[in-house]
Amino acid sequence: MAHPEKKKASTEPEIMEKLVALCKQRGFVFQSSEIYGGLKSCYDYGPLGTELKRNVKAEWWRAMVHSREDIVGLDASIIMHPDVWRASGHLAGFADPMATCARCGKSFRADHVWELLLDSGWYQALLELYQNNEVSSLVLKRWAEQKGKKLAPNLALCRDPDGTLARLAEKTGGEIPGSLTFKEFVQHLTTEQLERTGLQNPCLECGGELQEPRAFNLMFRTSLGPVDPIEAFIARMRQKQAQLVGACSTPNNTEWLDLLRQECKAAVEESAVYLRPETAQAMFTNFSNVQQSMRMKLPFGIAQQGKSFRNEITVKHFTFRSCEFEQMEMEFFCHPPEFTPPGAKTDMQWFEYWSNERLNWYARLGLRKEKLRLRAHEANEMAHYAKACNDIEYEYPWGWGELEGIAHRTDYDLKQHEKHSGKKLTYFDPLVNKHYHPLVIEPAAGADRAALAFLIDGFAEEPPPPGTNEGRTVLRLHPRLAPVKLAVFPLVKKEGMPEAARKIVDEFSQCGIKASYDEKDAIGRRYRRQDECGTPYCITVDGQTAQDGSVTIRERDSMKQERIQVAEAVKVVQKRLAE
Ligand code: GAP
Repeated sequence: MAHPEKKKASTEPEIMEKLVALCKQRGFVFQSSEIYGGLKSCYDYGPLGTELKRNVKAEWWRAMVHSREDIVGLDASIIMHPDVWRASGHLAGFADPMATCARCGKSFRADHVWELLLDSGWYQALLELYQNNEVSSLVLKRWAEQKGKKLAPNLALCRDPDGTLARLAEKTGGEIPGSLTFKEFVQHLTTEQLERTGLQNPCLECGGELQEPRAFNLMFRTSLGPVDPIEAFIARMRQKQAQLVGACSTPNNTEWLDLLRQECKAAVEESAVYLRPETAQAMFTNFSNVQQSMRMKLPFGIAQQGKSFRNEITVKHFTFRSCEFEQMEMEFFCHPPEFTPPGAKTDMQWFEYWSNERLNWYARLGLRKEKLRLRAHEANEMAHYAKACNDIEYEYPWGWGELEGIAHRTDYDLKQHEKHSGKKLTYFDPLVNKHYHPLVIEPAAGADRAALAFLIDGFAEEPPPPGTNEGRTVLRLHPRLAPVKLAVFPLVKKEGMPEAARKIVDEFSQCGIKASYDEKDAIGRRYRRQDECGTPYCITVDGQTAQDGSVTIRERDSMKQERIQVAEAVKVVQKRLAE
């Protein structure tokens, strides 16, 4: 009998549980609306998290816009004309397959059901029996009548133990579970009418049977203007009253339901707008505005950072996949092969260039190289319009996963918007005296996803150094990403030390370097508090400071301390931040 690997019931690896706890304790990330029980997959960044994310975005902007002449910025509105999403294909195709339970009505990502079941109590209980070779008709019947009834009341086995077990025995020739894999075994315990429905998948919550998946659009819809879609619907129904009464009077016909659906859809669509699911489209709709106003010549890029929204159904792993998140995207417009000037980079060379540039950006900001990789998409993974796609992947505690995507989007988006808007979105190339559509390479990153990777990569629990008995938790964030760059301590709260320390904090603040003052607890505890926040440098004012104007500066990762002159402190830290 093939035994699936047993997974623990907890949803997260231990390190994630520790990191989530640290993020709350130290003010990086809180659950949204926590006092009301929280809101699924929505998060609030606390004071330190806000600084970290701003630093991530600032580093991206510096690398992508400020340090280059060929890329300019954009800050477009989140709500765009609904035709944008018709043209981009999001209205028709930006959907996940959803399966709804026929018994309790809850919906789940159809393609993630078996992965999600690993977190389900009843599934784990059955898995344990199966793995311990304890599955028999008798045991299953007892399980169904006791534990199963409470955990999965709608599982066919629990609703009708005798019937379900008889059907199962018939299938396996009397032996239970026979040669069935665990998945098949569970499907048989879920299915009542095998011949009619085929094997069915179970609901995570109640064990009921999941219906055929349907497409669920991930865009958040809202309405713009003074029209209330409910009132618009009622007004439409008033006009159709006679038709509705006629349709309702025919028993067992679905005509009235179809009519309701059609009118409801029309009423909603009158004023429907969508929260953008990606920032990219505004770079395409503004292509000509930006190119002409800034007199940009190919190849050039338009970069944007901002919120995007997706009604994500499967949410796991902290902020990894949230409903509201910030993207950092750049659309790089380059020559099609036939118009590429001699010696200039081709579209595919730009694709390789941006894949490597972006990978190196993460490594430069401290992500360990061995935890980063580029993965080329298989042909069946790519959007139909894409010519090539690379994911920058990071090895998260739960396995390799996407950090950023680099896509060769061809000229699809510009042509689509041109078709739907009726406005030309071509580039006039004076070298060949022709108008044409440029090709687009898109590095698309997430600020929240990047911040999470930096937090995970930097998180370490260090054992006590030899001769001591106290270890430490440290966030080894790159100094430029660290929320606070410097903490300043007076060794004791007297002899002018607090005043001298505060003066140092002021000097740093005036230079735009975030510094904080801390005088509480013993010096060792103060260091540890700062280590947990990722503060790269700590300066301590002590008795010697008043005599010779020197202080100690301690580096977070090596914990090495050296004496420097107060007058030099800003310069020393500035130099290290620039490295
Ligand atoms: N314009 C292309 C685009 O949006 P994507 O792969 O869907 O591509 C790009 O998103 C990046 O945005 C991802 O690599 C990830 O970093 C981030 N991202 C996407 N969905 C996210 C979500 N639900 N929560 C957090 N970050 C997300």
